[in-house]
Amino acid sequence: MESTKCNLFNLLLLILVLLHQTPVFSTPILPKEALPTESGYLPVNRSSESAIFYTFYEAQKPISSISQTPLLIWLQGGPGCSSMIGNFFELGPWRVNFNKQDDEPLALERNSGSWNRIFGLIFLDSPIGTGFSIAAKPEEIPRDQNLVAEHLFAALNAFLKLNPSFRSRPLYITGESYAGKYVPAFGYYIVNKNAKLPDSSKVNLAGVAIGNGLTDPEVQVATHALNTYFSGLVNEKQKGELEKLQLEAVKLTKSGNWSEATNARNRVLNLLQNMTDLATLYDYSKKVPYKDDMVTELLRIEEVKTALKAKESVVFEACSEVVADALNDDVMKSVKFMVELLVKKTKVLLYQGFFDLRDGVVSTEAWVKTLKWEGTESFLSADRKVWKVKGELAGYVQKWEKFSHAVVLGAGHLVPSDQPLTSQALIEDWVLDNGLFANVEVGNVPFDL
Ligand SMILES: *[C@@H]1O[C@H](CO)[C@@H](O)[C@H](O)[C@H]1NC(C)=O
Ligand SMILES: *[C@@H]1O[C@H](CO)[C@@H](O)[C@H](O)[C@H]1NC(C)=O
Ligand SMILES: *[C@@H]1O[C@H](CO)[C@@H](O)[C@H](O)[C@H]1NC(C)=O
Repeated sequence: MESTKCNLFNLLLLILVLLHQTPVFSTPILPKEALPTESGYLPVNRSSESAIFYTFYEAQKPISSISQTPLLIWLQGGPGCSSMIGNFFELGPWRVNFNKQDDEPLALERNSGSWNRIFGLIFLDSPIGTGFSIAAKPEEIPRDQNLVAEHLFAALNAFLKLNPSFRSRPLYITGESYAGKYVPAFGYYIVNKNAKLPDSSKVNLAGVAIGNGLTDPEVQVATHALNTYFSGLVNEKQKGELEKLQLEAVKLTKSGNWSEATNARNRVLNLLQNMTDLATLYDYSKKVPYKDDMVTELLRIEEVKTALKAKESVVFEACSEVVADALNDDVMKSVKFMVELLVKKTKVLLYQGFFDLRDGVVSTEAWVKTLKWEGTESFLSADRKVWKVKGELAGYVQKWEKFSHAVVLGAGHLVPSDQPLTSQALIEDWVLDNGLFANVEVGNVPFDL
């Protein structure tokens, strides 16, 4: 008896040890609770197979009925970079463990700063050919903002048809970097379409938000020399060299020599990189670049691709050279006039991480000053208010009517990666008109009793 018991015990122990080592029992890289609510493809063109890949995450804890709960769209920059970077590296509910040690395995972690805490969140791989999206023919890839917007509009309408409650929900278009072009273009397209559509088919656009955007490149490209000089990163002689290259980029832009203008801007950024030897111009405080290549590693795992309903034949690339080439001549074209329309029709938020040397605070303020809008002067003379989140200094907010500008401290180009909770507070307060984004009623002066 005694020995049988002992053998049984040993056998059990062995089974337990084996079970523990069998990969079937290890947690999957994409746990069930990390899966999007919906994902897949949204067609953009009736006469082709081109389609935009999307992932949709419903609000985790909506604070209003679902038919009133805001929907946010996120668009990545590039041109040609996948919104899956936003999804799995910045603002999605689960992100790659980018703070891991080199010998730790790739894994997903819950993001307490996710933008879908109280809003629905949609990531779109746009333009077609980007990320998991499909470009049926290379010729169909957009070469200008109008076609980018036309495709996004088709994809959005396909999305809104997925669920009858979607169309009534207030829609906010958000994005980063080169999406400083897409966000205004998409908003502008919607405003113009809505004017011609019956109420039942209108898009319920409620606002647009751009993080560290390129929107008015001719003005923005001319700010690097002064910005880096007064940041103490280059000396006066180097400032002069940068200014010379900037002037070339401005001249080529003015003369409409678009491909050369794009090259000239790249020369400015390359020289700045060469002079400073920083780990990344996206954040001058960083010792190592952003590890967004972890997203590529994640999305090349077959199991993950299948779970996200991405086409098996598409090999994920974080940024597509083909799409970047197609839009090469578009890079230096301004969409400031689109923002000038939008600021009259809807809410606009511009925010920048403070450490960005590519599309940062100074670069944004330079073109905002030139906005042709009746509120520009009032905006420029409004106070820049100290902004605190949970009692801690988070940055600064300036607002006039529907136009807001926020500076995010402790962040570079990818604000939600660097400051998840602050970025969440920013987007939630802005959407809900809370805190520094509250609308002050004119004439509502409290008595000093
Ligand atoms: C739709 O696809 C067809 C066939 O490739 C193409 O000729 C047309 O330009 C595309 N239209 C749009 C709006 O992308
Ligand atoms: C564009 O600029 C380049 C470099 O200055 C010049 O060689 C080229 O002829 C220009 N192209 C046009 C169309 O003006
Ligand atoms: C900058 O460019 C020069 C000339 O090409 C090169 O010799 C130098 O090594 C570069 N410096 C850095 C830090 O990349």
